[in-house]
Amino acid sequence: MTHLHLEGLSHVYPGGVRALEGVDLEIHPTERLALVGENGSGKTTLVRHLNGLLRPTSGRVLIDGRDAALLRVAQLSRLIGLAFQNPDHQIFSSTVRREVMFGARNAGLRGGVLEDAVVRSLRLVGLEQVRDDNPYDLGYSRRKLLAIASVLAMDTQVVILDEPTTGQDAPGVAAIERLVGGLSEAGRTVIAVSHDMRFVAETFSRVVVMQAGRIALDGPVETVFAEQSWPALAASRLEPPPAARLGASLGLGSTPTETALLAAIGAGRS
Ligand SMILES: Nc1ncnc2c1ncn2[C@@H]1O[C@H](COP(=O)(O)OP(=O)(O)O)[C@@H](O)[C@H]1O
Ligand SMILES: [Mg+2]
Repeated sequence: MTHLHLEGLSHVYPGGVRALEGVDLEIHPTERLALVGENGSGKTTLVRHLNGLLRPTSGRVLIDGRDAALLRVAQLSRLIGLAFQNPDHQIFSSTVRREVMFGARNAGLRGGVLEDAVVRSLRLVGLEQVRDDNPYDLGYSRRKLLAIASVLAMDTQVVILDEPTTGQDAPGVAAIERLVGGLSEAGRTVIAVSHDMRFVAETFSRVVVMQAGRIALDGPVETVFAEQSWPALAASRLEPPPAARLGASLGLGSTPTETALLAAIGAGRS
């Protein structure tokens, strides 16, 4: 059970861009948290601090109460897996199978456990048929799924997916929704950065809205997508998911998900 705590986290890139400004955020074990916000608001910078790819300019990242600055990247990568926004920055093996195996082996898996993790992860993202292909012969959407599979195979307590649905068709998005649900049921913490508010509402329970390096909103899906939050969302150039807009226009209250919308319509009829 890994507890994550960002304390006054600020990050200034070489060159002077202030990407994060005093972010305080606590993420409890088994949470399903979506990080949203317009381009450049600091989402990727934030998640890269969680697995030690970036170090704070000021403030701290605490993993189970321990300062991440005192942990090695290898230690962090056994606890926290991050699928990169751009899969081509992550993938470098000559076959799909080797790519998935590489990260899992680095995370300490061996023998049958390693084999099982590779097979299971490839199946979860639907890439088992192309396991012997060169990743660069796959299209972008499948390279993205490969980057996700590599992280799943590491079997970390915390799984972070940076823009997982980019380039996916509806079945691809549905597969990602299912695998997030599966991770959550297995007691993992899942954090995703996303632009897709429908995916966010359907898949996550907590939403954190970033704006210019700060947290603008943080709450349950029902609150963040409720009508009173829409002006704040608009300030971050975000639109509530379709089910939320439809529910509001029908006077049904906050219906961020399709299930909530259908339930509210059903209750209205009876
Ligand atoms: N490697 C980098 N060097 C300099 N500036 C960067 C770098 N990566 C991101 N930035 C800048 O930091 C800010 C936040 O970027 P990022 O965390 O990628 O935002 P998001 O993921 O929300 O789109 C942006 O202004 C971006 O241009
Ligand atoms: Mg990003």
